[in-house]
Amino acid sequence: MSQPLKLGIAGLGTVGAGLLQLFQEHGARLALALGREITIAGVSARSRQKKRSVAIEGLAWFEEAERLATDPAIDVFVELIGGEEGVARASVEAALKAGKHVVTANKALLAKHGTELARLAEAHAVGLKFEAAVAGGIPVIKTLREALAGNQIRRVYGILNGTCNYIFTQMQEEHRAFAEVLKEAQDKGYAEADPTFDIGGFDTAHKLALLTSLAFGTKVALDQIHVEGIQGISQADIEAADDLGYRIKLLGVALLTDSGIEQRVHPAMVPKHSAIAEVSGVTNCIAIDGDFVGNVLLAGPGAGAKATASAVAADILDIARGAISYPFGLPAAELKPYRRARLGQHQGAYYVRLSVFDRPGAMASIAGRMGERGVSLESIVQRRPRWALPGIDARPKPGAPTAVILITHETTEEAIRAALNAIHADGNVSEPPQMIRIEPL
Ligand SMILES: NC(=O)c1ccc[n+]([C@@H]2O[C@H](COP(=O)([O-])OP(=O)(O)OC[C@H]3O[C@@H](n4cnc5c(N)ncnc54)[C@H](OP(=O)(O)O)[C@@H]3O)[C@@H](O)[C@H]2O)c1
Repeated sequence: MSQPLKLGIAGLGTVGAGLLQLFQEHGARLALALGREITIAGVSARSRQKKRSVAIEGLAWFEEAERLATDPAIDVFVELIGGEEGVARASVEAALKAGKHVVTANKALLAKHGTELARLAEAHAVGLKFEAAVAGGIPVIKTLREALAGNQIRRVYGILNGTCNYIFTQMQEEHRAFAEVLKEAQDKGYAEADPTFDIGGFDTAHKLALLTSLAFGTKVALDQIHVEGIQGISQADIEAADDLGYRIKLLGVALLTDSGIEQRVHPAMVPKHSAIAEVSGVTNCIAIDGDFVGNVLLAGPGAGAKATASAVAADILDIARGAISYPFGLPAAELKPYRRARLGQHQGAYYVRLSVFDRPGAMASIAGRMGERGVSLESIVQRRPRWALPGIDARPKPGAPTAVILITHETTEEAIRAALNAIHADGNVSEPPQMIRIEPL
């Protein structure tokens, strides 16, 4: 057997404890497969006294993660603390500078500092691996960096946040309102007490930033992502989508266009019978379009102790085999500056829901506004809704607002936005128009 690979693990929470459990259960078999043992040379967390789900007696304890990161006894620093700054960043930087390989699950850290950390890793000839940072147990990083490396990637998109997908699934299946489902998700521990990071789309954006860099060989550009959350999606939209043959999903999309790369996170309509529409609950799913391979779809658990530990372990095993590649697939110096495509130029079809005052001429005026901007309509549905729209009576009186659902043919974002602004300004609608992009699959 070769020399053992010695780990220093900082962070013994959900993922850290899962990783210790994995090595307890599978360590002996992995040693045989690798021809070397993987040992734990030290651990660190905030509190030594805390009761944990796995035994840590007998493991060397480090009060400070940064000390562990540079300790001569370790080969690999495994950062499972979290956060884009503070101890996580300081200890990862210290480990790289000390010539230690780093494995991390920290999407926030990499989305903010990924390019410079990659540079640091290369300068010290060590690995920086982060399979667990995107979509938990799904091996999407390795898939993009290695298995699909022969392709020019055209688009990467997917459901990258389990909390949002759980909320949409519940709204769809149980016909419940957004706020009610969110509260239940918080009570069950799926959603954080402050859910902004998930439902605002920011968690998805962090993961998308890493996928974009890997897929297109660009510097990580989190601040260039167009982000919309799911707070504005009502039961009316979920049910209208269903009637029209769609499901609503929070998607992260990175798309190569002639004018640059589109990076966007927003609720999107996907055809009901597509594979991605059928991904329900907390499951994640990523689709990759490559010029030679075609469309590849990966689905699985996007979070959780065991699934995430599985991804962390995969990185550690690679290092044990000596399989160390550039963190983002290319030397950091060769990563291109990110060139942002203007979202106004985005081409696509749109779903629009309007609460239209039921009065003569209103529909003609709306159609006229669309026409002025060259937006043509595939369908218009105006009828007594089966959903209960706030402020709309079951039997609308003349003059009361009624729901009108429009599906446009392909147009530009600029055109549809301008048309909707004009419709709102005309006063024929009782609330701002709802607009959701239809993602072609
Ligand atoms: N949970 C998931 O399903 C999941 C999925 C994918 C990626 N991730 C990522 O994995 C990382 C860890 O997430 P988690 O869910 O395991 O978090 P967690 O359960 O909150 O655990 C965080 C751990 O970090 C320790 N810690 C906090 N401050 C520290 C400090 N100053 N020095 C040393 N240790 C410190 C905590 O110590 P104490 O235990 O003593 O409090 C705890 O053990 C994050 O980057 C997260 O984004 C998580």
